[in-house]
Amino acid sequence: MDFKTVIYTKEEGAAIVQLNRPEVLNAMNEEVLEELEMVADDVVRDEKVKVLVIKGNETAFAAGADIQDFVTYAPRDAHQYLSRVQVSMGKLLGMGKPTIASIAGYALGGGFEMALACDLRIAAHTAHFGLPEVNLGIIPGGGGTQRLTRLIGEGKAKELIMLGEVFDAQTAYELGLVNFLVPLSDLETETRKLAKKLCRKPPLALRTAKELIQLSYDVDIYNGLMMEKEKFAYLFSSTDQKEGMTAFLEGRKATFTGK
Ligand code: COA
Repeated sequence: MDFKTVIYTKEEGAAIVQLNRPEVLNAMNEEVLEELEMVADDVVRDEKVKVLVIKGNETAFAAGADIQDFVTYAPRDAHQYLSRVQVSMGKLLGMGKPTIASIAGYALGGGFEMALACDLRIAAHTAHFGLPEVNLGIIPGGGGTQRLTRLIGEGKAKELIMLGEVFDAQTAYELGLVNFLVPLSDLETETRKLAKKLCRKPPLALRTAKELIQLSYDVDIYNGLMMEKEKFAYLFSSTDQKEGMTAFLEGRKATFTGK
């Protein structure tokens, strides 16, 4: 695959996509989103890939949407851009494989929202976060008003969105926006370790857990619990369930195959 705005590699079960527009702090334009969609499709297709990592560089994960493009947008263009955002983020949320955002530097606006659309976030102490859209006369459009609110509650979401201030990685960690906080020098290694850990887990169980957690946004608790019961029972038809439990009883490490 030939990419212009991202670098896409694979190593030992992990697909790694690096946002690569350093001259604009990895600001995201339609081309970036289109290429991320292609990456997501490839990850779903490739059975050898167990986990997707999205990263930037030391200065920026991504400083949001490309304001150079935005400045000329008519409402119709903005609408189209957000459709693309929703498709690419939807693919991250909808794929049955775990996704990790590995963050150093700025994760602002759509960049922050892209990280929020990943399952887990690992950040360097040097990372900075924020939804500065109000300062540009707009609002977050990549799920900021919805996903952030669900993650940290209405009060904090209003604070972050209405003030539009940039905050540090420690604050993000304390708010629960970041799962793991590490020194910048360890980010690469710790991200790799995390990806490897997920690669060793049973893929069907991971996929089912992700689907059910996602579903919890859309259904009431009664129906959510009914679905949980069905899916729980379904996993007892898998080879991985038998392997996981037999390995436990035999005192050895399980080897999962995704079947
Ligand atoms: N869109 C387009 N270009 C961007 C950008 C964005 N979101 N964010 C940064 N850039 C560009 C800058 O225009 C600058 O380009 P130049 O070298 O041609 O002047 C380059 O990236 C470096 O950014 P700069 O502002 O000089 O770096 P800084 O270290 O002084 O500040 C930020 C870093 C992240 C605080 C600042 O760039 C910023 O506020 N960016 C916009 C963030 C934002 O509002 N995102 C939401 C968009 S909806």
